[in-house]
Amino acid sequence: MSSWKGLLHAYDELLPLTEKTPKLSLNEGNTPLIGLENLSEQWGAEIYVKTEGTNPTGSFKDRGMVMAVAKAKEEGSKAVICASTGNTSASAAAYAARAGLRCIVVIPEGKIALGKLAQAVMYGAEVFEIQGNFDHALEIVRSISEKENITLVNSVNPYRIEGQKTSAFEICDALGDAPDVLSIPVGNAGNITAYWKGFKEYHESKGTALPQMRGFEAEGAAAIVQNRVIDYPETVATAIRIGNPASWSSAVEAAEESNGSIRYVTDDEILNAYQLLARKEGIFAEPASCASIAGLKKQLESGEIAKGSKVVCVLTGNGLKDPSTAIDTVTVKPTVIPNSEEAFLEKIKGGAAG
Ligand code: F0G
Repeated sequence: MSSWKGLLHAYDELLPLTEKTPKLSLNEGNTPLIGLENLSEQWGAEIYVKTEGTNPTGSFKDRGMVMAVAKAKEEGSKAVICASTGNTSASAAAYAARAGLRCIVVIPEGKIALGKLAQAVMYGAEVFEIQGNFDHALEIVRSISEKENITLVNSVNPYRIEGQKTSAFEICDALGDAPDVLSIPVGNAGNITAYWKGFKEYHESKGTALPQMRGFEAEGAAAIVQNRVIDYPETVATAIRIGNPASWSSAVEAAEESNGSIRYVTDDEILNAYQLLARKEGIFAEPASCASIAGLKKQLESGEIAKGSKVVCVLTGNGLKDPSTAIDTVTVKPTVIPNSEEAFLEKIKGGAAG
């Protein structure tokens, strides 16, 4: 089998590419679908995770960004711009660097995970911190992109959705069909929109089934659940700290058409799932990602998701992006030992360190 060359090579017939679209690639996509052996047994369901944190910049954004930046380049744009809670900016910066475009990013001051900021600056983006939140930043960059010759690469850019839908194709290919339930975090609501589009397209072209789409917002940023704009969203899951999702109506449509739902999970539930996933399965995903696991746990307990269901949870970003939350969440710190094997042996014979 030929080696993986990224989404624009793998899905050229299922994406809106032309002969002029540059075959931009950082070998994104083709991410592992991993069965959760321990939690499946414990919770009574067949659970898989789609580990999008294994993409080149550590999040699902690379799927959409490779499309959006390739199209910007094709259309002769010299610069891209985005608002971001961190992952979009990291991805935009990487693909812009690769394509030789200028990249301007606007992030909420003091509210993005350290790893994401490190990525944007390393990839050479021009980084602006707005004294406001993501929703304010998005409003400004949308307006600027309409006035200037700068391409907006937030998920309101339709090419982002096109790229991101490919994850649904990969899930169906890996399982041989769609799962019963797709559980996914919801922030700006582009990704749930993209997955639903992907599942519907595969349903039409390949006859695969349609899953129930179950989206999860964070309690302090649950605009769709509460059916109102949240002016000051707050959550430990900074990636989904969004009070006025741009793809609001298409997310509601995905939930309704698929017989699914959009609900919220609390920060405690997110952090609990975050630790469970790492400790029971050896998978470290960032807090926002774990809204999908927290939501699944809650709905298996309430009976909203039937026991025995085949469920795929989307783990949207890598845990290493946000080391501070990990360190703050886990109270056990490394045990300091003297420089002596004997003393060390004494310590570990006593049981688990710490
Ligand atoms: N999970 C992670 C890790 C994210 O970074 C995001 C969004 C989401 C989930 C939600 O996806 O917005 O499509 O509903 N991050 C954006 C950003 C907003 O700027 O990086 P969504």
